[in-house]
Amino acid sequence: MNKRTLGKTHLDVSTLGFGCAPSAFLKSDPGALTSLIGRLLDAGVNLIDTATMYPGSEEFIGHHLSGRRSEFVLVSKVGGARAVGTSGEPWSDELITSSIDRGLRLMKTDHIDVMLLHSCDLATLEADDALAALVKARDAGKIRFCGYSGDNEAAAFACKLPDIAVVETSISYVDQANIDAVLPVARANRVGVIAKRPVGNAAWKGSADRTGIYVNYTKSYVERHGKLRISPEAVGAVSASGAMDFAELALRFTLSFPEVATAIVGTTREENATKNLEFAGRGGLDARIVDAIQSKWKSAPEASGWPGLT
Ligand SMILES: NC(=O)c1ccc[n+]([C@@H]2O[C@H](COP(=O)([O-])OP(=O)(O)OC[C@H]3O[C@@H](n4cnc5c(N)ncnc54)[C@H](OP(=O)(O)O)[C@@H]3O)[C@@H](O)[C@H]2O)c1
Repeated sequence: MNKRTLGKTHLDVSTLGFGCAPSAFLKSDPGALTSLIGRLLDAGVNLIDTATMYPGSEEFIGHHLSGRRSEFVLVSKVGGARAVGTSGEPWSDELITSSIDRGLRLMKTDHIDVMLLHSCDLATLEADDALAALVKARDAGKIRFCGYSGDNEAAAFACKLPDIAVVETSISYVDQANIDAVLPVARANRVGVIAKRPVGNAAWKGSADRTGIYVNYTKSYVERHGKLRISPEAVGAVSASGAMDFAELALRFTLSFPEVATAIVGTTREENATKNLEFAGRGGLDARIVDAIQSKWKSAPEASGWPGLT
């Protein structure tokens, strides 16, 4: 598995990471999920992304992955919402501290490698109390690095804060705004970038068969996909063996930007996780295909008004 350095953390992370949101929100069977993540870890994936608010995810990590804790960089998120066993107002020191303590307990670990503020707005970042709570946890050894998960001007602002070592931001073929808004400022400040929603929630699959929170959550990307008219054929991703698999095109587009250290694809299917290992192993796309995908975005009349979506 290819590795890249996660900015000023100097952590070497696999270009394919694992995002826990779909398996948590869709309540994956724990046995199947243990097998899926075990397959990824065996292949060299070494970054797992979770959050206080992903239902049952921290408990799952504690029960099923704590025996392999030394093999992965653990990324989590706190701040805006109160989970059972936590207290305090959104973005307060009390809520952030109690959420970190809960995460350590549930995940059966003595430290979380990267803790992100879970998509607070710009005003909250500017007020500084939430980040101060993360810094306090870092100084106490509970977390190693502080970061921010979000998009657009708030993510760009976060990159300039000296205590922010990592940003997690949406980057995919249907979510290209952060490529210009966030990546240059992350690079300038040596902030490590984790690409969230890196295959655009598989927008090419359309809306049918979505379940749970994903019925509504994926609508905007599916609409964008319809308007962008991106396909492997339309962007020249065709070889003698045929058109590239859409998932490969999507994942390798996101990995084409050197600032992106890892793309944390969420999946509930081991066969897709296995394919993603293969796709990520091939690295970024040819420059002419990347240009074609970016040109589709730049020439779509609506795209200039499409922000990075959280
Ligand atoms: N605000 C935030 O901080 C925030 C917001 C969103 C996401 N995140 C993080 O980012 C991670 C990734 O985002 P995401 O899970 O929303 O979106 P994503 O990774 O772009 O897409 C996930 C979807 O892609 C499908 N998929 C994955 N590999 C595939 C393949 N090879 N072929 C076909 N379909 C494939 C999955 O379906 P199957 O299950 O059928 O494979 C799933 O529906 C999350 O899990 C979470 O950790 C953070």
